[in-house]
Amino acid sequence: MVVEIRIDRVSKWFGGIKALDNVSLEVSRGEVIGLIGPNGSGKTTLLNILRCLLKPDRGWVEISGVRLNGMDPERLADLGVASIYQFPRVIKDLTVAENVALAVLKRQKNLWRAELLAIEYLKDVGLGGKAHMLAAKLNRYEVRLMELARAMAMKPRVLLIDELLSGLSEEEQREIRGLVRSYLDSSGATAIWVEHAIGSLVREVDRLVVLNYGSLIADGEPEKVIRDQRVIEAYLGSYTIA
Ligand SMILES: Nc1ncnc2c1ncn2[C@@H]1O[C@H](COP(=O)(O)OP(=O)(O)O)[C@@H](O)[C@H]1O
Ligand SMILES: [Mg+2]
Repeated sequence: MVVEIRIDRVSKWFGGIKALDNVSLEVSRGEVIGLIGPNGSGKTTLLNILRCLLKPDRGWVEISGVRLNGMDPERLADLGVASIYQFPRVIKDLTVAENVALAVLKRQKNLWRAELLAIEYLKDVGLGGKAHMLAAKLNRYEVRLMELARAMAMKPRVLLIDELLSGLSEEEQREIRGLVRSYLDSSGATAIWVEHAIGSLVREVDRLVVLNYGSLIADGEPEKVIRDQRVIEAYLGSYTIA
């Protein structure tokens, strides 16, 4: 079993706040990890360390055997890593296809071909009809679909997803979960998939990992983890139980 992502005793402070406290996690190649936790528990901070947007104060991280600490984030695409961010990243005065084409350009340097490929990926998520619209015209759900197409267009071997389902209706969530799941199944990619809602990932992931106040408090089989007393307690006082 090959370890694709290795997080070893990582701690991160923001001033007096300990956002991550000695977190260790190993993800095997092809494994899909759901990472959940209440607001402020350190989920995005952990992803941002894997994205080389933040450097751990202690510990280290590795993807495909490459030590990341302090690496240029631009190099991550060469390692086959793609991200979907908690807050959408859209270039509003470009078309939907152009937004996706920018990601394709990392491997297809011909602009015209990149745009044709982008349109194919947009069709895959059901946005083919909006390819030539300005991205500013998309609603929240469509923006999320576009970001999914953009991530898939990079053909990632490692996909880092942050709160893709937040603020969407049940039906929209189901659609997006299905699209992510079918990409992961067909590509065999490794993923860390962050959501805030405790029940949203149970059926989609191989393993569920829970952060609370920066500490990893549970790691295991999803159905078991959501019944873990420490996990339920961590979510008390939080509005999103299911
Ligand atoms: N850039 C930052 N500057 C200061 N504090 C931050 C910063 N990023 C995150 N934090 C703090 O670190 C903690 C973890 O945040 P975050 O990783 O965003 O949590 P989550 O994604 O689980 O909601 C929170 O207390 C948050 O306020
Ligand atoms: Mg977050």
